[in-house]
Amino acid sequence: MDIQDTPSSFEGRLLIGATGSAAVAMLPMYIGALRSVFRGSITVLMTRTATTFLPAHTVGLFADRVVTGEEAATWPRENHATLAAGHDLTVILPATANTLSVIASGAAPNMLTTTVLAATHPVAFFPVMTGEMWGKPAVQRNVAWLREDGYHVYDPASGPRYDVVTGEFIDSPQPPPPPRFIEIVRRLMAGNDASGV
Ligand SMILES: Cc1cc2nc3c(=O)[nH]c(=O)nc-3n(C[C@H](O)[C@H](O)[C@H](O)COP(=O)(O)O)c2cc1C
Repeated sequence: MDIQDTPSSFEGRLLIGATGSAAVAMLPMYIGALRSVFRGSITVLMTRTATTFLPAHTVGLFADRVVTGEEAATWPRENHATLAAGHDLTVILPATANTLSVIASGAAPNMLTTTVLAATHPVAFFPVMTGEMWGKPAVQRNVAWLREDGYHVYDPASGPRYDVVTGEFIDSPQPPPPPRFIEIVRRLMAGNDASGV
């Protein structure tokens, strides 16, 4: 066993899809926490909106590889087919209402949604949005459709946080605490059920 390894460490080829929620600013913290036990590779695939909240080169300081799909010159080696085939698990953190809707409808307007459509490996969503958005029937309908289609969708945790849209500290849906996120990734990477985590 390597000196860095612990009995609980795990491996795999992880693809993190990052979408345009302000919570994407927390992504480096999640990747850093993952690194404490995850010995595999981490690719981050960002939507165009995600890169307006957090520059891709900043994510590149934490991930092994960052893909935006914006540079056509990279398409021969980095495209939806190579990204889908080159990973064992995709987790979308944070997942916007927009991306949930697009994937629930089977559309593929960008590299991330096309990769999810092309993937045969498990895909998990960690939605983050305001409570008003999360409570809308259309959003809940999309979540139900995604689950029916075999995707894993994890309800956001609720708790106090600073909301960048309202400028207030409110009880609002938010991403799972890093330890819970890591446990879900560990179980899904091993092909196990992570619904009760
Ligand atoms: C300041 C700000 C914060 C936002 N936060 C969220 C959010 O937390 N969740 C969400 O679903 N949409 C949020 N949006 C809206 C998304 O950015 C918008 O729907 C965008 O089209 C999502 O694109 P994507 O899904 O391709 O990344 C926010 C927009 C702004 C301007």
